[in-house]
Parts: sequence; structure tokens; C-alpha cells
Amino acid sequence: MTTDFSAGFRIRDYIDSDYDELVNFWDATELGRPERGDNKEAIEETIRLGGALLIMEEKATGRITGTSWLTYDGRRVFLHHFGILPAYQGRGLANELLVASFGFVRKNGHQVKLEVHSSNFKAINLYRKYGFEPLSDYEVYILRDISKL
Ligand SMILES: CC(C)(COP(=O)(O)OP(=O)(O)OC[C@H]1O[C@@H](n2cnc3c(N)ncnc32)[C@H](O)[C@@H]1OP(=O)(O)O)[C@@H](O)C(=O)NCCC(=O)NCCS
Repeated sequence: MTTDFSAGFRIRDYIDSDYDELVNFWDATELGRPERGDNKEAIEETIRLGGALLIMEEKATGRITGTSWLTYDGRRVFLHHFGILPAYQGRGLANELLVASFGFVRKNGHQVKLEVHSSNFKAINLYRKYGFEPLSDYEVYILRDISKL
């Protein structure tokens, strides 16, 4: 998938050679950490399972300016690692990237879920604007260390 839009950016699928820049991007946007399992193998596996990692790049420089990682578990789509490079925030790029992400969701045909920190008001405003609603009575749990199971 490639979407060109007028502001000098395009949205395309992840390619292998993006990885090193991606790590720096997720660092700069505080989206990625090794303990979250954000590695090359995980990306490739999620794509193999029917997901997508959308990359927004600046046409003039080829720089990665946004990412949206959509994973599919057979029942729902999960939207994560959604962000825009700090220097490029505040000019509508997240709107463009989210709309492109909805293109994936529509094609996939299943509900879409996401997690957002309760203090992240910019992201919450964005998601609410497009119709996402909080599951108010739920907390999010994770078991990171499975070695003792
Ligand atoms: C949240 C984030 C993606 C917004 O990116 P952005 O490019 O600045 O957003 P846009 O300029 O496209 O604005 C899109 C919408 O976001 C919300 N938003 C953006 N900046 C905002 C601000 N300063 N105050 C309130 N809402 C804001 C608004 O709903 C806005 O829509 P509007 O323009 O109609 O008001 C960006 O701040 C980011 O990447 N943050 C770090 C990573 C992150 O936290 N990702 C979310 C993980 S769940």
C-alpha cells in the first residue's frame, strides 16, 4: 500500500531496511522498548499473520515521520506504535496516518482496539475525534516474564 498526499509525505508499508531508523523513531516518540518485544522478528511475524506496519515518510528526505502498527489476532485489529516524529507534530500528520490506518481496518473487516495512557490527552483527543470510546471499567494487565510459568 502507498498513499501519497499533498503535504510532501507518503504512507507505505514497512520494508526490511526501515528497521534501524524505526528503532530511533520509536525511541524519539517513546513508543518502543525492547521489553515490549519490538523487534524485527515480531514485526515480520505480525505482517505474516495479516497485520501491517504503516510508515509515513517525508518525500523529500525519505525520513520516517510516523508509524502505525496494526496487528491482527484473528478476531480483532490492534492499533499500536502510533506516533509522529516530535518535530513534525501539530500539523495534521496524525490525522492522515490514522485515516490510512482505517483503510487497513476496513479491508480487514474486524473491530479495532487500542491502549492509550490516561495522561496522553493529545492522543485521546485524536482517537475520540474518530469515534473510539473508552472501555471505562477495564484495567490493562500484562505478564512480561513467562520464564516461571
Ligand atoms: C498523539 C500524536 C500522534 C498526535 O500527532 P500530531 O501529528 O501532532 O497530531 P495532528 O496534528 O494530526 O492532530 C490530530 C489530532 O490530535 C489531537 N491533538 C493534537 N495535538 C493536540 C494538542 N496540542 N492538544 C489537544 N489535542 C491535540 C487533536 O484531536 C487533533 O485534531 P484537530 O487538529 O482536529 O484538533 C503525537 O502527539 C505523538 O506522536 N505523540 C507521541 C506518541 C504517542 O503518544 N502516540 C500515541 C500512543 S497511544
